[in-house]
Amino acid sequence: MVRAGLQHGVLGRAVERGLIDLQVHDLRGFTTDRHHVVDDTPFGGGPGMVLKAEPLFAAVESLAGTRGVPAMVLLPSPQGRRFTQQVAAEYRAADHLVLLCGRYEGVDERVSATIVTEEVSIGDYVLSGGELAALVIVDAVARLLPGVVGDAASVVQDSFTRGLLDCPHYTRPARVRGHQVPEVLLSGHHGDIDRWRRQQALRRTYERRPDLLPTVALTDEEQQWLASWMAAERNGAES
Ligand code: ADE
Repeated sequence: MVRAGLQHGVLGRAVERGLIDLQVHDLRGFTTDRHHVVDDTPFGGGPGMVLKAEPLFAAVESLAGTRGVPAMVLLPSPQGRRFTQQVAAEYRAADHLVLLCGRYEGVDERVSATIVTEEVSIGDYVLSGGELAALVIVDAVARLLPGVVGDAASVVQDSFTRGLLDCPHYTRPARVRGHQVPEVLLSGHHGDIDRWRRQQALRRTYERRPDLLPTVALTDEEQQWLASWMAAERNGAES
């Protein structure tokens, strides 16, 4: 599942071009018993299976120094720190990330308590394993590395890079099924276009994710826009 996910699109091309080195390891390769058992029933009883500590210790030990730097060991888990664009930017600074993919009910706590740098959650929902979460994290981090996304400007313009949602985008034709592209985008006035995009990004954030706004540094102009929308909303509510 992980290998397939790493073969396509932006990630696949980054691997092909040698911009990132991604290795997938099978935990069963780090077992010593004849049946390559990686999980067992939980102490104290209860449903499900728990990933055994020893194969995970052995796996991380075999990888941790392979790049000459201590690896940052991440454990995707719903109990982890919330993964955001800011966290992706932090992980980007690491030369070597190891992601442990837990299955079943989780991993033996002694692994998380000792060799895991941090547990990380991609959202408040439960996946059936850490693999999809690991792919999400790898994708978000890799696209911040130089050259991985062809047009570096598109990374800068992304949602959340400024802490705001992205503005709307349009492409040809200018009219589709009666819907016209906003006139300003056809004007060729870069200043006007930039202002319109910042306005749209701010407006969307205000309407869809107001919780993000307190964390964003806004220009005086942007604060004025926001204040005028809030005033308009108050007036609308009164009438
Ligand atoms: N594993 C299972 N659910 C997860 C989640 N929400 N985030 C990260 N890893 C997970």
